[in-house]
Amino acid sequence: MSADLHGYRRTIYPRKSVQFRVHPRALFGVGYFWLVALTMPTPRLEAQTSKQSTRSGIYTAAQAERGRMQYALSCRSCHTAASHTGVTFAKWWKDRTVADLYAFMSTQMPKNDPGSLDPEQYADVIAYLLKMNAMPVGIADLLADSSALAQIRIELPPKATPVTAPKTQKQTQKPTRKTRP
Ligand code: HEC
Repeated sequence: MSADLHGYRRTIYPRKSVQFRVHPRALFGVGYFWLVALTMPTPRLEAQTSKQSTRSGIYTAAQAERGRMQYALSCRSCHTAASHTGVTFAKWWKDRTVADLYAFMSTQMPKNDPGSLDPEQYADVIAYLLKMNAMPVGIADLLADSSALAQIRIELPPKATPVTAPKTQKQTQKPTRKTRP
């Protein structure tokens, strides 16, 4: 009888310890569900914003016109259109964001009086540079908001690379471009 009693007690304790293990697992399962549910929307938002580029229509024609006048006053004494397009533009700004262009211009330009324009005036001049590079216009002005500008990739116009056509090899790249008029 005593041996049976010990045997009976031994079977009870393991059962209890099994029951204790079940609860944390169940809680973990619920917690994991919420973790997944809460983190799901974040990557989707990032994917949407990072798709924006200078070809998404990020400035207006009126803004580019304001930029053209500002540029004539503050920039044309040193620059020509050629210095903001084609190979030069590609060399400086390929694979960068509009925030990089904005930061450079607003802290370094005009070379003889850096930072002397208002934020909106720099944004207008950027719109003019985008127009020079044949980027499509949109329905809203480009805003001088660095965090928003950081989401906009600078893309090159299809004709940017072969302007001076230094090597015939580059012609093989031309048909791979996505957009055609
Ligand atoms: C006093 C002469 C001078 C003036 C005025 C000037 N720049 Fe520049 N800019 C330069 C020089 C020189 C460089 C070459 C880089 C350097 O030395 O910093 C340059 C480079 C640049 C670049 C980078 C290269 C490129 O063309 O993409 C941009 C963009 C630019 N300037 C924009 C402007 C804008 C916009 C204005 C007017 C708000 C302006 N600059 C006014 C002299 C000037």
